[in-house]
Amino acid sequence: MTVSQALETRRAVPSFAPEAIELDQLFALLNKANLAPSSRNLQPWEYLVVVSPEDKARLQAASYNQKKISEASAAVVVLGNLNHHLDNAARVADDNISKGYLKPEGREGFIASAAAGWPTPQTQRDEAFRAGSLWGMSLMLAAREAGWDSGPMSGFEADKVSAEFGLPEHILPVLIVTIGKANPAIHLLPRGERFPAEELASIGNYGVRKG
Ligand SMILES: Cc1cc2nc3c(=O)[nH]c(=O)nc-3n(C[C@H](O)[C@H](O)[C@H](O)COP(=O)(O)O)c2cc1C
Repeated sequence: MTVSQALETRRAVPSFAPEAIELDQLFALLNKANLAPSSRNLQPWEYLVVVSPEDKARLQAASYNQKKISEASAAVVVLGNLNHHLDNAARVADDNISKGYLKPEGREGFIASAAAGWPTPQTQRDEAFRAGSLWGMSLMLAAREAGWDSGPMSGFEADKVSAEFGLPEHILPVLIVTIGKANPAIHLLPRGERFPAEELASIGNYGVRKG
């Protein structure tokens, strides 16, 4: 499947058929999604893997009772780590050194620069949501290629998800991605209109359109 085919056939499915996903299969998708880019490769994402009926019921209860969560083979809660620039910098610096991106004498500078890079809760949150969203889209495309359907969801109560699943304060739920097989009994309506690039693109200055 080409990237274009994955983009064209991915739909947010309204209902899933009963189908189990092997944890190994799911982890293969998670590792594919980990190829998503992030600023300085600091990878501000983690995720909560929800596969048991009990855990799905707990997540559904925190998600306005959207039943897709219980129907899905798995629900992945994309998490953003507000401390990613502190937690991951040394590991990324060492990887950069081992691959020739960074000289050993640059290690402390890299770590200090990462620490200074996201100085406020707002910038930390922005980055977590930015990279977490790229990660979530990567997961949906990887799932599509592997023959799975998916559904992105922001319809959840973040504070309830955090309390129910024991998330520490610096770990925020960003997005839920449900993964499963589309329910064949549900007729999928045509995809909603996408506004064309010709209407959305400003060229050079805001409001200047193509042609
Ligand atoms: C950030 C985000 C949040 C969404 N939240 C929900 C949700 O809580 N429940 C739901 O049923 N669909 C949700 N959707 C799915 C959208 O409604 C769907 O992607 C959109 O209508 C376009 O349909 P398509 O993905 O099939 O092209 C969400 C999508 C995105 C990107």
